[in-house]
Amino acid sequence: MFRWRPAAKCAIRSAHHINTKRVISFSSTMTDKFTLPARYGAGEKSVWIEYIQLVAEYKPAVNLGQGFPDYFPPEHVTKALADIATSENPLLQQYTRGFGHPRLVQNLAKLYSPLVGKQLDPLNEILVTNGAYEALFSAILGHVDNGDEVIVIEPFFDCYEIMIKSAGGVPKFIALKPKSSSGVITSADWVLDEKELSSLFNERTKMIIVNTPHNPLGKVFTQQELETIANLCIKHNVLCLSDEVYEWMVYEPKKHIRIASMPNMWDRTITVGSAGKTFSVTGWKTGWAYGPAQLMRNLQVVHQNCVYTCATPIQEAIARSLEFELARYDTPECFFTSLARELLAKRDYLVKVLRDNGFNPTVPDGGYFIVADWTKLGNKIDLSGEPDKYKDYRFTKKFAKEAGVLAIPPSAFYSEQHKHLGEKFARFCFIKKDENLVLTEKLMKEWSAKKG
Ligand SMILES: Cc1ncc(COP(=O)(O)O)c(C=O)c1O
Repeated sequence: MFRWRPAAKCAIRSAHHINTKRVISFSSTMTDKFTLPARYGAGEKSVWIEYIQLVAEYKPAVNLGQGFPDYFPPEHVTKALADIATSENPLLQQYTRGFGHPRLVQNLAKLYSPLVGKQLDPLNEILVTNGAYEALFSAILGHVDNGDEVIVIEPFFDCYEIMIKSAGGVPKFIALKPKSSSGVITSADWVLDEKELSSLFNERTKMIIVNTPHNPLGKVFTQQELETIANLCIKHNVLCLSDEVYEWMVYEPKKHIRIASMPNMWDRTITVGSAGKTFSVTGWKTGWAYGPAQLMRNLQVVHQNCVYTCATPIQEAIARSLEFELARYDTPECFFTSLARELLAKRDYLVKVLRDNGFNPTVPDGGYFIVADWTKLGNKIDLSGEPDKYKDYRFTKKFAKEAGVLAIPPSAFYSEQHKHLGEKFARFCFIKKDENLVLTEKLMKEWSAKKG
């Protein structure tokens, strides 16, 4: 235990006394010298930091905010990690290859080669990263230079914008818009205006970021939509950064299409995946990027100078988990197929709960989020006491306090100039155990009954 020693106290006091002048003048310049670099803007808290804090503060009965399951991943996945922790091979507890643990990159090559129609070189065409987050970071920082333009489709996973700006790039936004805003609406109804999209491409355009299946809308981009994007990339010599972390969560009859597998796209596409999303272990924070060696080299440089290498036991466990699934790939038990089956029932349940309680949800074709229009509830909830600038922040906070159900405000997924497009929605995550979805129904019903 720490014990205060008088002698030390005296020494500190006298040093402080002697240096008072220097200390004061140093402090007064501190604020100027040690401010956050401008490339990080005003340094606002991300929606994740803020809403995780809210969970601790409001203690909502159900948290349908952040995207992670509240139940166990497949047993073989956690067992692999437990086995590794007590393995007789001491090297499994030490640094591994910086660009990806050999057993993991080999299995990723086995998984993706047939899916992109090309034999992947595990050592030069795959990089293992600290979550898909770091794969995005390495891809953006490894390619975007001062003044380069990057096309971002709104709503977008919020870190894209700050990563582009911190690389010196200029994000150019284009919003997916619903074809109609009343009646039954699915994620396929949210579309891009092709003319507007092509008008954003010019000689300064370095990259476009595509996220399919999409967070938060659950949109699964169609062959035709991806072809439009691919043709523009080819015409204007632009890179495509394809964020596919929800690749295994696609609901029949929709199919996930990898833009890297489309004609003439391999050489200009970096695809991002996530072990956290794939195996329901988001806390393992391991992801990857794959693409042609000449592009991957740029990601490797960022990675080696920032992260250098990812946790060995986790990578080994993911490698073993992939082997397990690859061995039963064509069976209905394979987790890559069974996960979507399991989620479909949860999606339909939550869609109904939301509809029954006055929301208008967009039915997602993929992913595990539902974006729901809450504006019909506007007359039942008094948002005037909530200080936030955007209505969806006010709604989600007040609703969490009154109904006990926490959702995420989608305006966080829009650029400053388009935040109004997200304000009438709330994002609910449905990869939650059935009893929590049942509890959501109960809480929403009680809330609705109270409001009349
Ligand atoms: C679209 C999208 N990309 C990337 C990520 C980050 O994934 P990871 O947890 O593997 O870093 C997420 C996480 O929610 C996401 O929704």
